[in-house]
Parts: sequence; C-alpha cells; structure tokens
Amino acid sequence: MPSSPKRVVLGVSGSIAAYKAADLASRLVKSGVEVFPILTADAARFVQPATFRALTHHPCPIDVFEEPYPGEIAHIWLARNCDLFAIVPASMNVIARLANGLAEDMLTAAAMACTAPILLAPGMNTGMWNNPATQANLAKLRDYGYFFIEPTSGRLACRTEGVGRMADVETIFAAIHEMLARQDSWRGIKVLVTAGPTREPLDPVRYLSNRSSGKMGYALAEAARLRGAEVTLVSGPTALAAPGGVEVVHVETAAQMRDAVLLRSNSADIVFAAAAVADYRPSEIAAQKIKKALGDSSLELTPNDDILALLGSRKLPGQRLVGFAAETEDLLASARRKLDDKQLDWIVANDVTAEGAGFDGDTNIVTLLGRGGEEIALPLLTKREVAERILETVQENVNRDAPPSDN
Ligand code: CTP
Repeated sequence: MPSSPKRVVLGVSGSIAAYKAADLASRLVKSGVEVFPILTADAARFVQPATFRALTHHPCPIDVFEEPYPGEIAHIWLARNCDLFAIVPASMNVIARLANGLAEDMLTAAAMACTAPILLAPGMNTGMWNNPATQANLAKLRDYGYFFIEPTSGRLACRTEGVGRMADVETIFAAIHEMLARQDSWRGIKVLVTAGPTREPLDPVRYLSNRSSGKMGYALAEAARLRGAEVTLVSGPTALAAPGGVEVVHVETAAQMRDAVLLRSNSADIVFAAAAVADYRPSEIAAQKIKKALGDSSLELTPNDDILALLGSRKLPGQRLVGFAAETEDLLASARRKLDDKQLDWIVANDVTAEGAGFDGDTNIVTLLGRGGEEIALPLLTKREVAERILETVQENVNRDAPPSDN
C-alpha cells in the first residue's frame, strides 16, 4: 500500500528572502510533499498568497481568524495535521513572537499549537541577527526544542556583508527531506528512557539528591520520538518541559522509578537509562522535621535497587540496553566494568569533571562503549547532538544484529 504523502506546513514571514519560499514550495510539491502555506502580513508585502495557493493547491491564510478549511479551526487543524512545520524565512519578528508566546496571526498560532518538529530558517540583516534580543530569543527557542538551519554569511539585500543571509533553498529542501525521512526510521520501535535525578526523602522538608538536570535523557526521548518511535520517559524531578508526543511518567524516588520502569520494560525494544538514580536512601524517613542537635550527626543509608542491573538480568531477546556512566576517574575502565556487570549493549561514558561535560550544562563530551568492544569517542557536542549520535550508533547496531528478514 503506498504511504500517504508527508505534510509540511510552510510558514513564510517578512524578510526579503520570502520570495525564495515560493521556489521551496514548488520543489517540495514536485518531490511529492503536500505543502500547506501560511504567510504573515509582512510576508504578503514581499510575495503574494496567490503564488503559494497556485503552487501548493491549498489555501494560504494570514489572519488567525480566517477559516479556509471547512468545519475546522484552521490553526489547530494545520498544527495537528502536519509531519513538519517549516518557517522559511524566519524573521527577527517571528522569532521574537515564537520565543515569547505571542500567537497573534495564523503562522504563530499554528506553530505554537504544533507538536510536530518545527524547523526555522532565519533570514535577516546582520545587525538584527547579532542583536542580543534575537540571540536570547534563539537560545530560548533552541531550549524549547525548535530546529534551525543557520543563516550564512554573504552579501545581504541591505547592501551589507555579514551573517544573516537565509540558507540556500537547496539546503533547506534537503534538511526538510532528511527530517521527514528520519521520522519513519524508528517507526514501530518502543523506547523507554529514564532521566533526571531521584529524590530520597529524609524528613518532610529534606531529601538526598544530585545535580542531574535531566537534559540528556529528555534529548534522547525527543530524538527517538523524532525518528517515529513510541517513547515513554520515566523522569525524576526536573525543570524541563515534556518533549511533544512523548508519554512522561513523573516519579520522585528510586523505588518509584524502579516500579515505573519494571512495569514498562517488557514491551520496550530499547531502554536508555540516563537517570542519575540515587544509590542509597535514608534508612528511615522521619515523620517530623529533624531538629538539629549539638555535635556530629550521622545518617544511616540503605542501598536502592540498581534498576539497570535488574533490566540486564531479565533482558528479553533482541532488547537493547543503553546505560550511562558518569565518572570522575578511570573513565573507560569503570564504564566498561558497568557495561559488563549490568549486561548492557552500550554504555555512554562521560567524565563529569571535564569542561563542557557533565550534569547541568547543555553540552557533553562522551565515549560510547559497545559490548562488541567498540569505542567511539565523540567531541564536545550539545546534548541534542550527543543524543542523535547515540541513536545513530544504536541503530547501526540494531541493523547489524537484526536477523535476516524472510520476505
Ligand atoms: N542506574 C540505575 N539504578 C541505580 C543506579 C544506576 O538504573 N540504582 C543506572 C544509571 O541510570 C546509569 C547506570 O546505571 O545508566 C550507571 O549509573 P552510575 O551511578 O554511574 O553507576 P553505579 O553502578 O551506581 O556505580 P557508582 O555509583 O559506583 O559509580
């Protein structure tokens, strides 16, 4: 049965590069993609909605109260019915509105209601690009999970040279197709991710915990989701927003995390254990706030179950287990020991003392160790890029180990 065409919402905002969006729309349609255009009012001063209607055979709304889709609320319908939302070009103004939740026209309202990946191709004058407000808004949007095709340097329409020129249509076209293709690569695969710290209560106001931000696990969950996997994220307390389309189970203690994971692990094809699970909990939880006493005090601790080791001991045929080893010394030797002891397929080793690596930042430096003796050292990357590389590595491994298909 032929698969239904991929659907892309193409949002066009007010930048001189808007005219290039018509070429992009045309190429996407010719390549078999169904394109739903939206213009901002400013974009419509550069290019005509009629151009996009003719090229895509779909309405090209501007105002959020236009209702061109019979029986539907247009911005919600567009948000829900696309595989990818591309904003080409993304002006300084649209970037600012998306970063600050201002849904005042069809483009921003639909984008903000959308749970599909959103890809922005910024295009603007160098001064506007370098403006601290733009840079702060871009950082916010990266944090919110938006994707970018960076602008290039070159001669701009305003007769200046510098960064801000929108990437070539060819590059944007290729990036859109790559993202669409990737969406199916893990279709049908069930992924379970643990993330964040656990909190082990001591009394009604205190707990033992650690510095884990949860960013690595959330990035893995999001990356697996973008490949089309069915993802469950069992998360300790974090300040992070749930990635779109991912089932999130919130837990607090290691015991709750163990129970939530064991309940779901039998149906998981791949488990990524990125959580920094507390190895111990206070042996007793005081019913009342513990009062300070004079002199030294000590705390009795009881070991928690090692969730990943439990999964390793009951691993199902074909299931993949990926663990993390946060170390401060003997990085690779300790990580490999954990790989063996916990019967893992891969372990992601990181030296949490290295600059740019570790718990709370946006970047990480890791080495992937495989049960077949593989050792893949990655450079300093964002946690999102690390997540992509981990998934690529596990995917190659899954393909390599897959039994030959009989059809
Ligand atoms: N892990 C787990 N349950 C625990 C402890 C750890 O599932 N109770 C998982 C983590 O999610 C991680 C891996 O095991 O994927 C390694 O955790 P780490 O704390 O670095 O290793 P430990 O085995 O606890 O060893 P140590 O603390 O001695 O370094």
